[in-house]
Amino acid sequence: MSWRHVAVATEAVVQAGAIQLERYGQGVKVDYKGEIDLVTEVDHACEAAILDVIRSRFPDHDIVTEEQDLARTGSRYVWLIDPLDGTINFAHAYPMFSASAALAVDGEVVAGAVFDPIRDELFTAEKGAGAHLNGRRLGVTRADALIRSLIITGFPYDLHQRLVERLRPFVRVMARARAVRRAGSAAIDLSYVAAGRADGFWEAVLKPWDMGAGRLMVQEAGGRVTRFDGTPVSLGPDEIVATNGLIHDELMTVLREEASTAEAALV
Ligand code: IPD
Ligand code: CA
Ligand code: CA
Repeated sequence: MSWRHVAVATEAVVQAGAIQLERYGQGVKVDYKGEIDLVTEVDHACEAAILDVIRSRFPDHDIVTEEQDLARTGSRYVWLIDPLDGTINFAHAYPMFSASAALAVDGEVVAGAVFDPIRDELFTAEKGAGAHLNGRRLGVTRADALIRSLIITGFPYDLHQRLVERLRPFVRVMARARAVRRAGSAAIDLSYVAAGRADGFWEAVLKPWDMGAGRLMVQEAGGRVTRFDGTPVSLGPDEIVATNGLIHDELMTVLREEASTAEAALV
């Protein structure tokens, strides 16, 4: 039954992606939610398009979306919408951003779609029915050690205020993994773990809209998604570790380690 929800999530993110592509690289009006937390006119335009799609199909469902605080009715069905994930990238014409839509039923994500309009890549996931990229079934990697793994991360917008706290785990993982990337769109980061383009991802705080679709993508591709201590991730805001499963314990252990003297000297 969730295939209908995946279809509507897909329609919503593809419409948003078309707006992103049309406006990409042309300069965009920016407003500030915080010192480094931006919102552009394109975020708002994408949000309006996504809301139109969802409301026209499911008028009774609740919607949690990044740029508007919408009233909730208490519906069992809650959409989690990130109209433009990677706003800083978009504002700088750095080609790594997406739109993300997910549906949670009774607090569990059951359907999701992430669209990267630059690469024309549509990632979809349905609970119990797998994750797909442009219709091709996805599976996580088989890397079984951090030293042979490519890990992605991201930083919440409180980075300047909590620099040392945020950088310590980053330095530790840098010291253990083959490589660490910070790409700037959590929805794409998680989709890449599902697609086997990376072995794991972590972030200290993600909002419901950042990780709604991506977390299901990883689970449906055979990966594991938890908090840093192995407990279930809430809908958010929450911390998240998402991996191929095989490196999960090792990555959690490194994230939770006390800073070594060498690391402490660095940050
Ligand atoms: C951000 C991106 C980024 C992540 C931040 C998110 P936004 O979303 O996903 O990669 O590190 O935590 O807030 O603001 O571009 O939608
Ligand atoms: Ca986001
Ligand atoms: Ca956003």
